Amino acid sequence: MADSSSPIRRIAINTGGGDAPGLNAVIRAVVLAALRRGWEVYGIERGYGGLLEGDQNGLVRLDDDRVRGITHEGGTILGTTNRGNPFAWPERGEEGEQRTHDRSAEFLRAFRGHGLDALIAIGGDGSLGIARDLSECGLPVVGVPKTIDNDLAYTDLSFGFLTAVDTATDALDKLHSTAESHQRVMVVEVMGRHSGWIALYSGLAGTADVILIPEIPYTIERVCEKIRAREAQDRHFSIVCVAEGAHPVGGPMVTKTVRAGREEQVRLGGIGERIAIELADATGKETRALTLGHLQRGGSPNAYDRLLSLRFGTAAVDCVAAGHFGCAVGLVGDHVKPVTLDEALRERKFVDPDGELVATARDLGISFGA
Ligand code: F6P
Repeated sequence: MADSSSPIRRIAINTGGGDAPGLNAVIRAVVLAALRRGWEVYGIERGYGGLLEGDQNGLVRLDDDRVRGITHEGGTILGTTNRGNPFAWPERGEEGEQRTHDRSAEFLRAFRGHGLDALIAIGGDGSLGIARDLSECGLPVVGVPKTIDNDLAYTDLSFGFLTAVDTATDALDKLHSTAESHQRVMVVEVMGRHSGWIALYSGLAGTADVILIPEIPYTIERVCEKIRAREAQDRHFSIVCVAEGAHPVGGPMVTKTVRAGREEQVRLGGIGERIAIELADATGKETRALTLGHLQRGGSPNAYDRLLSLRFGTAAVDCVAAGHFGCAVGLVGDHVKPVTLDEALRERKFVDPDGELVATARDLGISFGA
């Protein structure tokens, strides 16, 4: 494997965690920029699984033909997973119980065995955490930040976020006419984990009447006040945009258990339904809840996300060429820059309840339920 002095001949790239629009644009940028330097590029499929699942097709050669015409395509041509940490690989015990075991040494052996010199790992905090752990084991790695949640503090934006905001805004736009026709309250639940960026951006752009985010705990009474105030102004419908991590003052976030194969996972979700019921009970209005869910991760990246992805991809290749490893590229102001993986993982980014965007929303009469 490479250190800062040995020449690069062959690099690998992988995509981990939840997909986000723009992954394919990063892959294309990495491959084209690497080929220009005379390197070979291989894609590890399904996160780290391609080198651990005994599948000879898990490592694929990426040439310019393979990455032709993919800048605008959603998803990832390499596949992804949020269950493939080589340090905690999931497996079934003898009694059928779910457990994990450390396969990182095996992964590193396979990586070296294929003559790979460096890895470009595209992912959110989970995947960048794996990249850091591999880097500490001696793997030359450069990270690229991906998440629709936009919650990585070291980068002003992660690609995929603004496309998710476009999707949520489009949904809010469309819901206005049906809400108004039926004089209903429509509650739209958007993603974002513990941060309210998608809800805040799309709620503002899509003219929601109420935006509920984890950073500003709400009371249902204050949400009802807004709906009643609109009724008094002859506005007989309302749109509530709620982040999946939003929660009442002193109350927990709402979760649900989902199936991942035979395994069960606890995921955020269900707050929209709960709020719709509470609003119907308190106001007597007809309510409907809609969860946008994985729609927000799908589709074609918008122009900004394509550009950011392409910039991140070429910047990551620059880092590899410079022998600058154990880092992740990010957007700081107008510039794409590398920071250490430790710095990249140090902090999450949350909406500032006293910040300019929240103040703008309040000036527009939008309620935060608080
Ligand atoms: O982190 C991206 C994200 O889409 C979150 O907004 C959401 O909570 C989570 O992933 C959903 O994960 P899954 O794809 O496992 O359902």
